[in-house]
Amino acid sequence: MKIGVIGLGTVGFGVVDILTKEKDRLEKEIGEEVIIKYGCSLEDVTLPKGIIYTTDFNDVINDDEVDVIVELIGGTTIAKTIILKALEKGKHVVTANKALIAHDGKEIFETARKNYVNIFYEAAVGGGIPVVVPAKENIIANNIQKIEGILNGTTNFILTLMEKDNLDFEEALTIADGLGFVEADASLDLDGIDAAHKISILAMNAFHQFIDFDKIKCDGIRRVTKKDMDYAKKLGYRIKLIAQAKKLENNIGIDVSPTLVSLKDMVANVNEAYNVVEITCDYLENILFYGKGAGRYVTASAVVGDIIKTHQKELWDHDYNQDMDITPITYSKYYVRSPKALDIDYETYFSFGKEHVYITNEIEYQSLVDQLNNEECQLFKVRD
Ligand code: HSE
Repeated sequence: MKIGVIGLGTVGFGVVDILTKEKDRLEKEIGEEVIIKYGCSLEDVTLPKGIIYTTDFNDVINDDEVDVIVELIGGTTIAKTIILKALEKGKHVVTANKALIAHDGKEIFETARKNYVNIFYEAAVGGGIPVVVPAKENIIANNIQKIEGILNGTTNFILTLMEKDNLDFEEALTIADGLGFVEADASLDLDGIDAAHKISILAMNAFHQFIDFDKIKCDGIRRVTKKDMDYAKKLGYRIKLIAQAKKLENNIGIDVSPTLVSLKDMVANVNEAYNVVEITCDYLENILFYGKGAGRYVTASAVVGDIIKTHQKELWDHDYNQDMDITPITYSKYYVRSPKALDIDYETYFSFGKEHVYITNEIEYQSLVDQLNNEECQLFKVRD
């Protein structure tokens, strides 16, 4: 196979590096040559000998010898043009582009199907952790009830720092940013949008439904305070940014929100920039996927896996339904911190100084808000 890599940033170079180092072994595995013909980037880069460097992606897409286009530019504009053009030219596409698959998956999959080629995107969720294919294929015997987890490494790193080093949000954010962890558009990480992209991709595969991304409610970590972390800990919980998708009676519940997770739960103990995905289904019951969700070689590992998978020539089915509405998951236990004592139904109550902290019984969000009598309370979900 002949490959064109478009986008030579952190992950792009990881892909070139792995394919160069592992070339002989991979070729033996699949009985076919694995050749990177092009590396395309607007930056002036040095590539291993034999790879043609170009700044124009059209050179790569218009070359009939190229069978696989690897799109690693990111974003939803030029990347979309490249992917659609490549598919229309009859080339398989491998991408790590979570935003694009979450927003425009339907159009992209239809274009792939019309042209009898594949689009693979394992690297879009959980970096190198294989979770898209398992959710779609390996556990197909099961009816999936719920898929949830920590899908954004940056915010998990920030929350871990806040707790471990006793820092407030802004201090931890400055450190994470200094280490290069935060996306150029920090809102993607901090406001839960990146995690929403990823959970919508998992939900699509798990529930065989196209997901209307704009209906996903995202609440990020900006309002998580050190004080709430300490109170949560005293109650036996840790605050994590949880992305959740759940099959409800007539629709699919999806949201991203800072959530109290019991310290006894493995998910609460996934720290630093690690990711975890937990799938709840019938025959297999519960299964956890854990590992590094970002990084050069971590993500490149999934991209290379997808490149090699194009060798199989078998077309992936993307024939998802679109008959279920998307709603937030509002029925939950809640953590409530209030400056006044409240008349609410609760499971646990503590008062810390002048503050009143409750873990409620399960309740509908709006019904809880109605009972708060406009008190300025801090509210977080509590994972069941
Ligand atoms: N900003 C993302 C994260 C990168 O922190 O998880 C990997 O998708």
